[in-house]
Amino acid sequence: MGIGRLSDGLAPTPPMGWNSWNRFGVKIDEDLVLETAEAMVGSGMRDVGYRYVVIDDGWMAPERDRHGDFVADPAKFPGGIQLLADRVHALGLRFGIYTDAGTKTCQELPASLGYEFRDARRFAEWGVDYVKVDWCHTQGMGPRALYAKWAMALHATGRPIVFSICEWGRSHPWEWARTVGHLWRTSWDIQPDWSSVLTILDRQASLHRFAGPDHWNDPDMLEVGNGTLTAEQSRAHFALWSMLAAPLMAGNDLRAMSDEIRAILTAPEIVAIDQDSRGTQGRRIRSDGEVDVWLRDLGSDGRCALAVLNRGSAGREVRLGLEEIGMDPGTDVRVRDLWERTDVGKMRREIVVATSANSATVLGIAAR
Ligand code: GAL
Repeated sequence: MGIGRLSDGLAPTPPMGWNSWNRFGVKIDEDLVLETAEAMVGSGMRDVGYRYVVIDDGWMAPERDRHGDFVADPAKFPGGIQLLADRVHALGLRFGIYTDAGTKTCQELPASLGYEFRDARRFAEWGVDYVKVDWCHTQGMGPRALYAKWAMALHATGRPIVFSICEWGRSHPWEWARTVGHLWRTSWDIQPDWSSVLTILDRQASLHRFAGPDHWNDPDMLEVGNGTLTAEQSRAHFALWSMLAAPLMAGNDLRAMSDEIRAILTAPEIVAIDQDSRGTQGRRIRSDGEVDVWLRDLGSDGRCALAVLNRGSAGREVRLGLEEIGMDPGTDVRVRDLWERTDVGKMRREIVVATSANSATVLGIAAR
């Protein structure tokens, strides 16, 4: 095993789930995780594909046990991780956990350097299905070698475990990580505001050729429903992450979200873009500073999705020639609004889209 292993079929489409970090930081505990897992079922998220419930930094006790094994913080997780994983599994979901490749996590808690095989084994014994490995406190270490060691450690457990690499894109993991992990971060941490979403989005524009089944670019977890993002901005964030074939890891409080936010996270025709089995990441085909157009090829029958992102503060009409999306201008195309889930009608030669400020219109295009 090691270099050259994946495609193992563990992430044929981008992983979907929830991660505790964006909304809760280190303030996590057993009740939060179980209530979140229940909310994932009750909200309909499980039914549209969300599977992984992942606890991020802050779950571990400040010391390992006398054998050197990880221990969960007893005040936060009195029942232990195995029981928690069992209860998450009982809901038809999968369980994920976090560690760090260096000497300490970013929150100064015990991390895994020198303990890779021991920790992977322990995670497997606990029933963990997904491991995120962070990159704090790794001075002087090479990510390729250390993440490859992690891949071997996870493989050696014999348990199928999705491997999420989190070194923030510094060493261009898209160039080497596809044979190591299933997803790799491409950027620094996302923040719950519009400018962070746009900054990260811009960094993805040249990365589409590196993604595919079992190896995904990860522009970071979702901030839908968090911070200062308006509902319209959350909608645009979610749509663009779906165009990018990004892992869809919700980062909000699922127990207390509004119907509007729930509707964004479960929008069936937007999620279907993200989860398209072909796994071709979308690319930006036009950008004039105010309006971006992103195109993603879908399926095998020439369908595609278009996201027209208006970054500005005023509405704009956008006209797009069919040749710009690789179609013969003479064909009639069928256009569907994938947020509204309604057919817009047929168009020939060009697609005309009325956009409003700070929003993304998402269209499905099919040749007749
Ligand atoms: C960062 C990572 C975040 C979160 C945080 C926890 O390095 O990018 O996603 O895991 O550490 O301390």
